[in-house]
Amino acid sequence: MTEDRKIPQHVAIIMDGNGRWAKKRGLPRTMGHAQGARTVEQILEDADHMGIRYLTVYAFSTENWSRPDSEVKALMNLLRKYMKTSLAKCAKNNVRIRVIGDKSRLDKDLQESIAYLEEQTRTNTGIGFQIAINYGSRDEMRRAVARIAEEVKEGNIDPSGITEEMIGRYLDTGGIPDPDLLIRTCGEERISNFLLWQIAYSELYFTDKAWPDFDKAELEKAIDAYNHRERRFGGLTE
Ligand code: FPP
Repeated sequence: MTEDRKIPQHVAIIMDGNGRWAKKRGLPRTMGHAQGARTVEQILEDADHMGIRYLTVYAFSTENWSRPDSEVKALMNLLRKYMKTSLAKCAKNNVRIRVIGDKSRLDKDLQESIAYLEEQTRTNTGIGFQIAINYGSRDEMRRAVARIAEEVKEGNIDPSGITEEMIGRYLDTGGIPDPDLLIRTCGEERISNFLLWQIAYSELYFTDKAWPDFDKAELEKAIDAYNHRERRFGGLTE
């Protein structure tokens, strides 16, 4: 580990391969998700120790509702459990939680535990942990556009005054800097409707490791690769 390497401020992760990880071991897919949830907790801790300021993970997409009922239920139960048990840990580690996505379609009790956890961790000053649940980037943009249109209708915003910065503020990630690095696990090289607006200039890193096998060493590898990229944001090198 070199001392002068840059640590990305914000890392986003598409956690793929829970199902394949389980299948390879002759286990039900839900066991893959359970192991994946453990990986999330460990990586959050590792990211924090490494000095990453924001971590955003894709836990459940707007498209994931089409999976078998039993799998949707298992994923929701994992998230339910996470919301219930993580408060003590967040308090101890100063983690601030935000759920991004359309929460209105989630069960009432889950919505309530999310609201409680967000409220209880709101003033924490450590790593910001964003969990995307019932999230789709196009849906997020649709909701943002609808809210801006409402403001225009009310006469609070003039259409000519709509800036990119303003649109960013209306997204679920409003106030959070864009990801510097986006990681996707398990060999797929697509974005799958994740943070389309926010990753305009992010570096992309793909690994063959399935999410349940992703660990600190893998995160280090991704950060090393990030350090070998030259970020130009559309400009020229000096
Ligand atoms: C992709 O694997 C993973 C998901 C759809 C769910 C991710 C959820 C978790 C890791 C658990 C809960 C998260 C938290 C924050 C506690 P896949 O099922 O698409 O795998 P496959 O492509 O191999 O079938």
